Amino acid sequence: MGILPGGPRLLAGPPPRGGPESYGDHLARLGQTPAIGPEDMVTELELSGLLGRGGGGFPVGRKWRALTEGPRGPAVVVVNGAEGEPRSSKDRVLMTYRPHLVLDGAVLAANAVGADSIVVYVGEEHGRARAAMAAAIEARSSTVLVSIRTVAAPIGYVSGEATAAVHFINSGDARPTATPPRPSEAGVRGRPTLVQNVESLAYAALIARFGAGWFRSVGRRETPGTALVTVSGAVSAPGVREIELGTTIGELVEAAGGRRDSVGAVLVGGYFGAWISGDEGWAMGLDPQAMRARGLTFGCGMVSVHPAGACGVAATAEIMAFMAESSAGQCGPCLHGLRSIADTAARLAAGRSDAAAIDDLERWTSLVTGRGACRQPDGAAAFMASAVRVFGSEFERHARLGRCSADEASVDVS
Ligand SMILES: Cc1cc2nc3c(=O)[nH]c(=O)nc-3n(C[C@H](O)[C@H](O)[C@H](O)COP(=O)(O)O)c2cc1C
Ligand code: SF4
Repeated sequence: MGILPGGPRLLAGPPPRGGPESYGDHLARLGQTPAIGPEDMVTELELSGLLGRGGGGFPVGRKWRALTEGPRGPAVVVVNGAEGEPRSSKDRVLMTYRPHLVLDGAVLAANAVGADSIVVYVGEEHGRARAAMAAAIEARSSTVLVSIRTVAAPIGYVSGEATAAVHFINSGDARPTATPPRPSEAGVRGRPTLVQNVESLAYAALIARFGAGWFRSVGRRETPGTALVTVSGAVSAPGVREIELGTTIGELVEAAGGRRDSVGAVLVGGYFGAWISGDEGWAMGLDPQAMRARGLTFGCGMVSVHPAGACGVAATAEIMAFMAESSAGQCGPCLHGLRSIADTAARLAAGRSDAAAIDDLERWTSLVTGRGACRQPDGAAAFMASAVRVFGSEFERHARLGRCSADEASVDVS
């Protein structure tokens, strides 16, 4: 089986290298968004089984339904294109090359949940994506009935978290808020707010046109459809690809120019995800539900191939340092706990530690779990636990001997 038997859906159309698809080309290819009422739109999404593509994997139809049944009054739609995840670029690729598909989904969402304004929240560092979205908004300024504006999301991993996004749009401070109300109750300007990832919205636009049955015709029964993934690391053709959900990691790696013997381990699900060994990962399907059953997460669809023979302790320490630095610094266990874990991992990687350090890592990961206002510490702890599981013998060698067999190998997996 290829990785995309029915051909691309989200990335269908002219090759992305041509730049953003114009509004005219978008309409010529897909036609106008159908005039679909809120109830029919939400029902179609529910039937489709589309899961959110920003990391949490929450059913999109259920989220829209909750807003239609929630507090009355005009709502707000936040198009989440922050994408601060270091090895993910699928959202900026989608915004850069198919901005009108994303906007179609945002306008449909606004119509379905009764919103009169849309905020397109794009990472400050994603200049081309922001320019493409701004030009797309301008191109439809005379035809769209809701107000649409872009807001630059500040650089930082946590900025894309839904409550941090709402907090930033309201007050210029991109820190998550732990206490109720949730954005769906009172978000932007105190209004009910739908925060939805750009890929989820682009797919909603296709489902409105082609229906839930079409959406479900590829992928897996419980997790249908295709998804955008970002492949990096030990492959010759890294980048963003669209895959049928259920495609194995092996198939994806081969399509990206990698080989089984070049894969030491794979980081799946992003920095919030986990390491799995090459042996375990090769035949594993990229299917959010099956992955969840194995204690893994599909997350934002990031697949990073750690080269065979490279040091897993160093690669882990590098990611943990990033996780610690991206703590928003408002919860003690996150601020101090992640720093302790990152420092210990760095000392182990540099060969300046002993066996007690591994016990410390295990103890701290359990201490920070569930102790933050957002899931940042939980994600970091789960990632660290997976590192100890997959690279256990390397961690022990570093603790005992100050190095591992991969010491001379490259550790750059970006
Ligand atoms: C630390 C952190 C960072 C996140 N960053 C993003 C992001 O950049 N883009 C995104 O769409 N969702 C991100 N999310 C998930 C959002 O909180 C939210 O679930 C998502 O935007 C909802 O859209 P979806 O249901 O379409 O996935 C992040 C979550 C966490 C905990
Ligand atoms: S858990 Fe960490 S990242 Fe999340 S709000 Fe608290 S300090 Fe910020």
